[in-house]
Amino acid sequence: MLRNTLIFLSESKVAKAVVTRTPLRRMSKRFVPGETVESFVEAAKSANALGLKVTGNFLGEAEHDLPGAREAAEVYLQILDAIVEHELDANISVKPTQAGLEVGIDAFCEIMTPILRKAKEHDIFVRMDMESSEWTQITLDAFERLWNDGWTNLGTVLQSYLRRTDGDVQRMNELGVRVRLCKGAYAEPADVAFQQKSEVDSSYVELTKALMREGKYPALATHDDAIADEALSFADAEGIGAERFEFQMLHGVRRDLQRELLDEGHNVRVYIPFGGSWYPYLMRRLAERPANVLFMVGSILREATGRGKKKKKK
Ligand code: FDA
Repeated sequence: MLRNTLIFLSESKVAKAVVTRTPLRRMSKRFVPGETVESFVEAAKSANALGLKVTGNFLGEAEHDLPGAREAAEVYLQILDAIVEHELDANISVKPTQAGLEVGIDAFCEIMTPILRKAKEHDIFVRMDMESSEWTQITLDAFERLWNDGWTNLGTVLQSYLRRTDGDVQRMNELGVRVRLCKGAYAEPADVAFQQKSEVDSSYVELTKALMREGKYPALATHDDAIADEALSFADAEGIGAERFEFQMLHGVRRDLQRELLDEGHNVRVYIPFGGSWYPYLMRRLAERPANVLFMVGSILREATGRGKKKKKK
C-alpha cells in the first residue's frame, strides 16, 4: 500500500512541485550525490578508492522529442569523456526513454550509436536500464537491433517480478549478452508481474542460477542478503568463480553489504545517479524501503535542530 502510494507520488507533478521545495532535496544526497558530471566524478572516485566499480546514470525524464533526447545523449558523452580523463573504473547506464525510445526505435538507435561508438573506442560497457512493463518488449527489440549492428559492448536489464522474464533470460543467454538482474521497481498489474515478495524473490533466485550457469558475466543487482547468500552458495556448488559475475547496488544503499562482499573478494559495482531529475528516483528508493522515509524525516529533524551539526564537530 505505502509502496504503491510512493510509486504513485514518484509520477505526480504536484507532489514533485511540493517536495522539491523541502529539505528533502538536501537529504536526497544520500542517494544522488549531485546534479553535475563533476559530482558524479567525485562520487565515482570515492567509490573506486574503496574498491567498488561504478556505473554512472544521468537522471532524466522520458524525452518526447529528438532534441531533448540529444541533449541527454550529450551528457552521456561527457560522462564517457570524464571516465576516460579520470581513469575511473566505471561504465554507464542509460534509461531508454530518456534517449529517444519514446520517439521510436529508429530515433533511439540513432541517439545511442555515437554513445556506443565512443564507449567501444575506450572499451567501456553500456547498460540499457529497464523501465515499466509497457516498455519491456520495445526495449528488448531496440537492444537486439543495436546488438545485431555489432554493438556487443551493450547489455540489458531484466526484472524478476515479470512473469515473462524466464524466456528473456534464455534469449539473452543464447545471444551471450551481459544481463543485470533486478527485482523491478515499478507498480505492475498481476497479469504481467508477480505480486508477492516471496514469488519475486524465488523468481530472482531461479533466474540467477540460469544466468550464472549459462549467461555472460551477469550482474546481480540486489541489496537482499538472503539472495546474495543463495547466489554465492550456488556459485560454490557449481564451481563458478568470483570473476564470472558481479553484484550491483545503488549508491548510498547497504554500504555494509557492499563492504562485506568486497572483503570476500567479489566484484561489486555501485550505480551512481546524478542530475536535476532526482525526485522520481528518490521516491522509487523510498518505495523500496519505506523505512527510508523515517530515515529522511529523522535527518531533516536532526538538521533542523542542529544536532547533526553538533555531532559532526566532535
Ligand atoms: P528488496 O526490495 O527485496 O529489499 C531487500 C533488502 O534490501 C531490504 O530489506 C533492505 O534491507 C535493503 N534495501 C532494498 N532497497 C533499499 C533501499 N532503497 N534503501 C535501503 N535499503 C534497501 N529496477 C528497474 O526496474 N529497472 C532497472 O533498470 C533497475 N536498475 C537497478 C540497478 C541497480 C544497480 C540496483 C541495485 C537496482 C536496480 N533497480 C532497477 C531497482 C530494483 O528493481 C529494486 O527495486 C531494488 O533494488 C530493491 O530491490 P532489492 O533486490 O534490493 O531487494
